[in-house]
Amino acid sequence: MRRHLLGVAALTVAVVLAIAALGELITRVSGEGGERPAAAVVAGVATPEAGEAIFWGKGKCSTCHAVGGRGGAVRGPDQGATGPLGQPIGLRAEARARERSRATGRPWTAADYLVESLLDPGAYVVAGYKNEMPNPLRPPIRLAPDEVRAAIVYLQSLGGTPDPAAIALPPGLAAQAQAAAAEEWRAYVAGDAKKGERLFFDADGSAGCGRCHRVGARGGDVGPELTHIAGTRDARFIVESILEPSKVIASGYETVLIVTKDERHVTGIVRRESAAAVEVADSQGRIQRVATRDVRRRAPQAISTMPGNFGEILTVEEFHDVLAYVLALR
Ligand code: HEC
Ligand code: HEC
Repeated sequence: MRRHLLGVAALTVAVVLAIAALGELITRVSGEGGERPAAAVVAGVATPEAGEAIFWGKGKCSTCHAVGGRGGAVRGPDQGATGPLGQPIGLRAEARARERSRATGRPWTAADYLVESLLDPGAYVVAGYKNEMPNPLRPPIRLAPDEVRAAIVYLQSLGGTPDPAAIALPPGLAAQAQAAAAEEWRAYVAGDAKKGERLFFDADGSAGCGRCHRVGARGGDVGPELTHIAGTRDARFIVESILEPSKVIASGYETVLIVTKDERHVTGIVRRESAAAVEVADSQGRIQRVATRDVRRRAPQAISTMPGNFGEILTVEEFHDVLAYVLALR
């Protein structure tokens, strides 16, 4: 049997269907994706308790945000008192609103800032972080407008006063949420997740993702943990992460080049650093240790440490098997 190699060019055309209209059709047929009743929001009353349930559950916010001593996520700012301004979000939203007023020349309330943070996360990017917060209306998170409101009430309650009446969601949000929720990317080949799992953890095989990625208790720590990746990222992001890893580099996983005094070049991600030495995880998943006194030069690189040639290495079938496995990690 011929092995069909995937080829990166196939990405845009063949690998994934990006047709929103089809997504809409599918959701219409199956009756899903419309205005979902928000289980945690009773009769449209947004309470901090309802929002807390969304933050730590369906909204997946806690996969990136801790709240003070609760949770260990570090990709987004801590929403508790140890946040960037040393204030919990319910308070620091007021300082952010003043910043937004200055930047846009119109009045902003703290609630306006929180609404924008959720619905247009890229409009204002907190200093020191990347523009990598997903819009929670879109797949795979798919919050309904009432759930967004409840999540905001919870954020207000962290150091501030919950005030549902202050939250002005943009008009037409229900229709927007419905359209966004239907924008599902689907692989056109159904992969076999069981085979995908074997390929993922086969260190000598064509994929070997587990050399660098942890899923639950298995795998390596060179790249980000993928245990819940499909819970926060849609299929398009995941496909692009695999085939074009340098397009968006996950924060904390930037590549550096270290040139030693004896002209050795070490490229990879800094995993640990002390006064005496720096430990770099390379693209083979190995840890290389360089003594600080041997370092001549250190430069950030725009290329991911994740290999960029999976499009050439994997067959179409293998790619879809791995994809099926990764898309099930929620
Ligand atoms: C995949 C990671 C990720 C997820 C999931 C995520 N966020 Fe974020 N969030 C970020 C990052 C990174 C930033 C900082 C960059 C920015 O401002 O966009 C951020 C910023 C924010 C801010 C602004 C914080 C500040 O200090 O001004 C708020 C509010 C927020 N997120 C709320 C939420 C809520 C609520 C959810 C769940 C519905 C959520 N986030 C889900 C990554 C995430
Ligand atoms: C040599 C180590 C290495 C191997 C092998 C590897 N990756 Fe990665 N991967 C990384 C690194 C480092 C990052 C973070 C930098 C970036 O975003 O490109 C990453 C990022 C990702 C991301 C984005 C994660 C996020 O939270 O943003 C996904 C998804 C991913 N890899 C999937 C895979 C899959 C599937 C395979 C196997 C086909 C694989 N990786 C093989 C190192 C690796």
